Amino acid sequence: AVTLDDLARQSGRYFGSAVDNPELDDTPYANLLGTEFGSTTPGNSMKWDATEPRRGVFNFTGGDEIVNYAQANGLSVRGHTLLWHSQLPGWLTSRTWTADELRSILKNHITQVVTHYKGKVFAWDVANEIMNEDGTYRQSIFYKTLGPGYVADALRWARAADPNVKLYLNDYNVEATGAKSDAYYRLVKQLKAAGVPIDGFGMQAHLALQYGFPNQMGQNIQRFADLGLDVALTELDIRMPLPSDTAKLARQAEFYGRVTDACLAVRRCVGITLWGYSDRHSWIPPVFPGEGAALPWNGNLRRKPAYDAIAKSL
Ligand code: XIL
Repeated sequence: AVTLDDLARQSGRYFGSAVDNPELDDTPYANLLGTEFGSTTPGNSMKWDATEPRRGVFNFTGGDEIVNYAQANGLSVRGHTLLWHSQLPGWLTSRTWTADELRSILKNHITQVVTHYKGKVFAWDVANEIMNEDGTYRQSIFYKTLGPGYVADALRWARAADPNVKLYLNDYNVEATGAKSDAYYRLVKQLKAAGVPIDGFGMQAHLALQYGFPNQMGQNIQRFADLGLDVALTELDIRMPLPSDTAKLARQAEFYGRVTDACLAVRRCVGITLWGYSDRHSWIPPVFPGEGAALPWNGNLRRKPAYDAIAKSL
């Protein structure tokens, strides 16, 4: 059978899905992941709280499990994520650090994790969600302690640990043009001008039917590509107010098709990753109460209209 990844490969792209470690025990789910997709992203197990649960003590068990599953099934792996304000370990957040202390903690974290996964992941979301909606820097522990230069430092440390892995900045609500994506556009320009290593921009693409399709998504992807970056859609899902019905599923399919078209229209849009592929395992219902049904396969692992729309656009 022709898979979404087969179709994406025809234009030199990949089609992937995130997976969380417990889902690998759901055999039908894991089997479909292994056959339909060409890439996967660990949903949680490469985040800081998982990889460095105590200062200087690293745990790669969960990430390795996903890498092993991916390798056994011919999938590549996107690394997610080295630096984020969320899912940080308690030891890091429960006290204050001097700038020198935090800089050395961050450098060691990035160096250890990137070194461990060298040759095993093809890309890293080096920094995740560093901007606010208005285009100012998020007031994370990193920003507050180190100032904005921590982003360039993080990229340089990642590059030093693996000269070949693609280095990304990644965020949500950056699919449309506007203050937030403008801020990334300016930042990438500055980083490039300063010779800081950066290879890609990740648009998470957590969309919602009720908020409409992101304004100018195609042009927005294009302008990042024009800066000399790869662009990836890294966490795609399209939620809706529950319950789902035929009309909402049709509109969702239309959105999935348009997102796929927007990527395919730009040569440097290199791939699309769903944030899980089935409504059976999705982060949406617990985080957005009353919303869900966000993925192209339903809870019984049956294809929804969105699947056909994606396949048609690929
Ligand atoms: C989510 C995971 O899917 C959940 O299991 C976890 O409880 C919270 O994080 N943006 C990101 C991802 O960059 O890391 C988030 O993943 C979803 C939003």
